[in-house]
Amino acid sequence: MRVAAFTELVGPDGVTIRERDDPQPDAGEAVIDVEACSINRHDLWILEGDSAMVDEDVLPFVSGLDPAGTVRSVGKDVSGIAPGDRVVLCPNQTCGACEYCREGPENHCIEFGLYHGGLAERARVDATRLVAIPKSLPVRAAAALPTAYVTAWRMLRRANVAPGDLVFVPGATGGVGVATVQLADVLNAETIATSRSAKKLERLSDLGVDHPIESDDPETLAASVREIGRPDTVINHLGGPFTKPALNAMARGGRMVICGRTAGTVSQLDVPDLFLGHKHVIGSTMGTQGDLRRLVDLAAKGAYEPALGGTYDLESTAEAFADMQRREAFGKLIIEP
Ligand SMILES: NC(=O)c1ccc[n+]([C@@H]2O[C@H](COP(=O)([O-])OP(=O)(O)OC[C@H]3O[C@@H](n4cnc5c(N)ncnc54)[C@H](OP(=O)(O)O)[C@@H]3O)[C@@H](O)[C@H]2O)c1
Ligand SMILES: [Zn+2]
Repeated sequence: MRVAAFTELVGPDGVTIRERDDPQPDAGEAVIDVEACSINRHDLWILEGDSAMVDEDVLPFVSGLDPAGTVRSVGKDVSGIAPGDRVVLCPNQTCGACEYCREGPENHCIEFGLYHGGLAERARVDATRLVAIPKSLPVRAAAALPTAYVTAWRMLRRANVAPGDLVFVPGATGGVGVATVQLADVLNAETIATSRSAKKLERLSDLGVDHPIESDDPETLAASVREIGRPDTVINHLGGPFTKPALNAMARGGRMVICGRTAGTVSQLDVPDLFLGHKHVIGSTMGTQGDLRRLVDLAAKGAYEPALGGTYDLESTAEAFADMQRREAFGKLIIEP
């Protein structure tokens, strides 16, 4: 089978198409024919040599957290799925034994890790991590959900977003950003969404964003937000200089949920504003397999349509990462091996 391997951690030029032996399932595993796998900035961090999880020692490395396709074969002791089933993988890897696994939610697991290997024609996976795809949902749409949409959903839930709430999403045109504004809409919240690109903002408006703002300057954004209102929630995947102005703009008692660091790993806080304003700052990573099941179900019922910004064949994987790196992508980019 062919895989899109990371052979050098130098950015998109480090992707090479390689031949590998077809995987065989061990007990408890399944092999799926991958029809679609979305990419995430997480993969790009690895490819740029900027990930704490993966380094040069493990090259060549096959990334891809979000494979979806058809079950090809199953190993011993697998029940509930069979060859021919359409499935999407929940990439969560948990120990199943720690206090957090016992108490839940599972994404708090002390040994929490992520599956990698979806950028390939076939993927060998833990069969218990497969979620069935209903007939009404295309496989490529399901492949958009496991990382970006699950992370966005869990953040909105952590913020207790309710109908009529004002939700501010700085940098709303990528995987997590678009997912957040779409799922905030599912929760009947009002959205403020930003981008430096007028063209990408038009696409956000088509998706029903209430208040698009064209800028990627944190202070300009905060001033524009204040003219609209005080957000109850900020979903922050940018970090860096975006945190402090967004917190200052937020309503008293509001919640900022942070999952990323695209614009920087260190942020300043205005401490008096935080305590005098009764504001919450919440860290969040991924979500649960139950979240993925819920999102597959909601998409299958038409509550929202996963936003796909482009599909690429396996040979064009480097091009997909280049589009993400140049900030030319919108929504989820899908590799179809
Ligand atoms: N903790 C978790 O579980 C988890 C899960 C998923 C993602 N994440 C993190 O969340 C972040 C987003 O991931 P993603 O896959 O959605 O990425 P993505 O698709 O590449 O996100 C693109 C968005 O980020 C904005 N952006 C990119 N570079 C920027 C910069 N230097 N300054 C300001 N805005 C910038 C873009 O704005 P424009 O529209 O202006 O171009 C666009 O809206 C990453 O940091 C990722 O690691 C964390
Ligand atoms: Zn655990």
